Amino acid sequence: MTKEKIVAEKIRVLLTEEEVNRRIGEVAAQINRDWAGKPLHLICVLKGGVFFMCELAKRLEGPVSLDFMSVSSYGSGTQSSGVVRIVKDLDEPLEGKNVLIVEDIIDSGRTLSYLIEILRRRNPANIELCTLLDKPERRVVQDVQVRYTCFTIPDEFVVGYGLDYDQKYRNLPYIGVVEF
Ligand code: PRP
Repeated sequence: MTKEKIVAEKIRVLLTEEEVNRRIGEVAAQINRDWAGKPLHLICVLKGGVFFMCELAKRLEGPVSLDFMSVSSYGSGTQSSGVVRIVKDLDEPLEGKNVLIVEDIIDSGRTLSYLIEILRRRNPANIELCTLLDKPERRVVQDVQVRYTCFTIPDEFVVGYGLDYDQKYRNLPYIGVVEF
């Protein structure tokens, strides 16, 4: 008989639900000022970006359309390889649109660098990046320009608000650090 070892992680709160929601409101206000009623086409990179996209989109005042994309990084382990395979492509063309890519976290920057390169070839009018969290200490690819960042965080393993550990904890309404 095999015995399954059940290990529960402890989660320490890094950013409370109130702090996250307040900051998303501030970033949304900045986007509203910058785009002043122009249509914005939000692209959510699944799965982590979905909670942030919903909260952000609710606070935008101009015309908003949404699309979703799922990518998977070649290679294994916790590091992305930089070569991205499109698992689910966008439904809509990007030609002439003001595109805002909405991400939960930018880590090495490899995923976004590759994704932006692919999406630029579809001739959007603009392509900008908005992220809930940024871990600049981990950046490997320097050419990723992030226009809107909610929080810059230290290099810790974070979960919640869309971010997972082994597919768990995405539904936490706050950002927590996993203490292994
Ligand atoms: C995360 C995140 C970014 C990527 C960032 O996705 O949503 O897409 O990793 O890492 P990088 O800057 O080092 O490339 P993940 O592959 O964990 O998928 P998920 O959103 O489905 O959890």
